[in-house]
Amino acid sequence: MQVLGKAAMFELVFSFAGLDWLPRPGRAARQRALGTMRKLVGGHIARRRAQADPAAGDDLLARLLALRDEATGEALSEREVFDQCMVTFQAGHETTATALTWWSRMLAGHPEAAARARAEVDAVLGDRDPGPGDAAALPWLSATVKEAMRLYPPLPALITRHTVGEITVGGWRIAPGASLYLTPWVLHHDPRWWEAPDEFRPKRFLPGAPDVPRGAYMPFGIGPRVCIGQHFAMLEMVIVAAMLLRRYDLELPEGTAEPVPVLNVTLRPRGGLRRRLHRRR
Ligand code: HEM
Repeated sequence: MQVLGKAAMFELVFSFAGLDWLPRPGRAARQRALGTMRKLVGGHIARRRAQADPAAGDDLLARLLALRDEATGEALSEREVFDQCMVTFQAGHETTATALTWWSRMLAGHPEAAARARAEVDAVLGDRDPGPGDAAALPWLSATVKEAMRLYPPLPALITRHTVGEITVGGWRIAPGASLYLTPWVLHHDPRWWEAPDEFRPKRFLPGAPDVPRGAYMPFGIGPRVCIGQHFAMLEMVIVAAMLLRRYDLELPEGTAEPVPVLNVTLRPRGGLRRRLHRRR
């Protein structure tokens, strides 16, 4: 995923500059990485197809295999199933992992917010693990995840659109066929909508907090192409976060520097992030 991320960044920047003809460094590494991904995803599908009833079960792959066209009764082709699995893996894996990485850094650096999240998790779950039905009862924990995504949006700059007609934005006339980049990073740090925009303040996302204009917060994009996995992603992240807090206290090792975000399709921390985990009794 890291190799593919770097290659995608290069391609995006150079296709933006109209330099598609330029020989690209890392092309062989990109092909190898893509091969690895294809084998991984293809292997899962092949193992499932080898089972007696591949469409039994309740996961995404089983559902894709069970799908039938209402008019013709046709199943998805092998290629369609593979492509759907690849896009789900690519879109859903690194983004969620990146969001949780930044979230854990935020909690490690903000002990009061972490203590409140831990108390909420303990009160709601006691000594059992969370399930999908518990997320709604964890508003503070959910707010910490949302606030971490505001400060460090996993996709900070790469929502692209082409204009199909002439439009005017803020006094600028934009011709048809222009490439536009929407940048959650900039929107999420705009002091017009966010008081003390660089501070970690989960209460901004508690029920009843003042509304911000539509589009001021868009970690999952917006409009007809909004992230199809956004509700699943929130559920998954809150459950993983709750499981982590049940088992560990997060702490910053002494002398930890402020993290430096780097754009590599997703927003990655330069040099990784350091946290210390203490097992809870
Ligand atoms: C924190 C986690 C996630 C973030 C921040 C995120 C972010 C985004 C964003 C910003 C877009 C819109 C791109 C655009 O408008 O051009 C998008 C689209 C998409 N996301 Fe996510 N996503 C996350 C998790 C997931 C998950 C878990 C899945 C699948 C299970 C997923 C599947 C997709 C797909 C398939 C699209 C394309 C939708 C379309 O074009 O109709 N994402 N995501």
